[in-house]
Amino acid sequence: MYSRIAGTGHYVPKKVLTNTDLEQMVDTTDEWIKSRSGIERRHIAEADEYTSDLAVQACTAAMEAAAVGPEDIDFIVVGTTTPDLVFPNVGTIIQAKLGIYGCPAFSLEAACSGFIYALSIADKFIGTGQAKCALVVGAETLSRITDWSDRSTCVLFGDGAGAVVLKPDEDAGIISTHLRADGRYKDLLTAKTGVSVQPEGDALSDGFNVQMAGNEIFKVAVKSLESIVEETLDANGIDKSELDWLIPHQANIRIINATAKRLSMPMEKVILTVQDYGNTSAASVPMALDVAVRDGRVKRGQLLLLEAFGGGLTWGSALLRY
Ligand code: COA
Repeated sequence: MYSRIAGTGHYVPKKVLTNTDLEQMVDTTDEWIKSRSGIERRHIAEADEYTSDLAVQACTAAMEAAAVGPEDIDFIVVGTTTPDLVFPNVGTIIQAKLGIYGCPAFSLEAACSGFIYALSIADKFIGTGQAKCALVVGAETLSRITDWSDRSTCVLFGDGAGAVVLKPDEDAGIISTHLRADGRYKDLLTAKTGVSVQPEGDALSDGFNVQMAGNEIFKVAVKSLESIVEETLDANGIDKSELDWLIPHQANIRIINATAKRLSMPMEKVILTVQDYGNTSAASVPMALDVAVRDGRVKRGQLLLLEAFGGGLTWGSALLRY
């Protein structure tokens, strides 16, 4: 039994922060940000707008698209790095806000790969018959852990949420998912203060923020993504020419270009939202998927390759017939 994406949704907060706005905040330029990352603007959540709020909007859109109601959902999994609270887990907060009762609801942390990890888990539950209608979510308020005085990181991130509804299908759907991690690279991309690791002195604000070795991350990202997309195609005996769309994690246009090149895919076959949304971590893949479904580029029956890469380091892919 396949699990098939029955509906998609995404949501971004109303507030837009442009590169020109950032020029007023740190020593940077629109030209530098665009040329190094491809990002032109990003959306930022209001102080009283939480990760769960963004997720609920995305889930509602996905459920409408799939023509399912709260009573149909029997599994909720959320990839996020920025849950509302330490606990209850943000899956249960989303569950309550959507009026869904009783089904398992949980979140997982795999940084920017969170949605791919969540999709892989939900796929297994659908495949074994333990779930019949799963909500799979990637949602982030990365602006909360961004150091707005650090020009090397604050220009890269944004807030948003994406969601899909997965249902069983005998004919087509998720063909395979591939998950990887290598903790030896854990210090390349990190927020050094958390729950068990407490801040020293008054270092909470510094330690809580994203710190990144951008150059090194870039190189490992390109290498790992190249190898996982090849592994994914090989595992299924599929030639890269058969792919209709690449839907990559939207961290940086140059990383995306490198993966597309390895797949010999012209950029017209790559879904890009990085210019409008920046890097929204676990939310970026389902957001890009929904954008392309709604504007009519991604059509039923097409072959899609999803991939993501993030802190941990973690990375992963999903090959699916939409
Ligand atoms: N505006 C202007 N200059 C900036 C800047 C900014 N926002 N941020 C950094 N710089 C400066 C640096 O200080 C450095 O100056 P120096 O040469 O005088 O020291 C110079 O620009 C070059 O910095 P560098 O880090 O080498 O740039 P880069 O070409 O590697 O691009 C990133 C930086 C972050 C865009 C790039 O490394 C990247 O995208 N890495 C991957 C990040 C990522 O995807 N992370 C998330 C993974 S999920």
